[in-house]
Amino acid sequence: MQPTLSRRDLMTAAASLGVGAALAVGAGASAADPLAAGAAPAMGRAYLGNHQPQPLPFDPTKLDGLSEKLIRSHWENNYQGAVNALNTVAPKIPALVADKDWPPYLLGGVKREELLRTGSMVMHQLYFANLGGDGKIAGDIVTSLDEWFGAAAAWEAPLLVCDMYEHAYALDYGAAAPKYVDAFMRNVNWGEVNRRLIAANKAAAVIAS
Ligand SMILES: [Fe+2]
Repeated sequence: MQPTLSRRDLMTAAASLGVGAALAVGAGASAADPLAAGAAPAMGRAYLGNHQPQPLPFDPTKLDGLSEKLIRSHWENNYQGAVNALNTVAPKIPALVADKDWPPYLLGGVKREELLRTGSMVMHQLYFANLGGDGKIAGDIVTSLDEWFGAAAAWEAPLLVCDMYEHAYALDYGAAAPKYVDAFMRNVNWGEVNRRLIAANKAAAVIAS
C-alpha cells in the first residue's frame, strides 16, 4: 500500500523548520502526465516526479541583449536542473513520511528542498514564458499595473496560501503548529480558492494563445 501524505502533514513539516510556507495548487496537466492519460496514480499527483521541462517558447538567437549562450545555459543548468532535482526529490517524500524513523526536522529538510526546487521550476517557466516579445507594454496589463502597482511589477497568483510564520498561530497555539494547521483547514474559503483557479486558468489560456 502506498503511504498517504496529507496537506496537514506537509504544513506541519514546514512549521518544524520555522519558515513560512505557501502552497500553490497547480492547474492543468502536461501531455506526459499519466493522470491526463487516464492511468491510476501510484501516489499523489504532487509526488509523481514526472515534471517535463517546457521548451523555450522563442528563438534564443533573436533576443535583444540576451545571448543565445546565456539563455541556453540558463534553461539547461538552472531551469532543467531544478526540474530534474524536483523529479528526484518528490517521489521519495511519501515513503519518508511513512517511515517512523524519520523525525519531522529531517522530513522538513527534504520538504524545504522540494519547495525550493518547485519555486525555481515555476518561476523559470514564468520567466521564459514572458520573454520573446518586443518589450512594448500594451493591452489590459497597462491599466492593471497602473491601478495596482504604479506600473511596477506583476505577480503570479497563488491559489491556497497558509502562513506558517509563528505570528500566524503562536498567540492561540504556542508552539503547537499542527493544531493551527487543523484550524486553518477548517476555515479555508474554498470559494476564493476556486475563484483564483478560474482566474489562473484564464491567464494561462491567454499566454498559450
Ligand atoms: Fe534563473
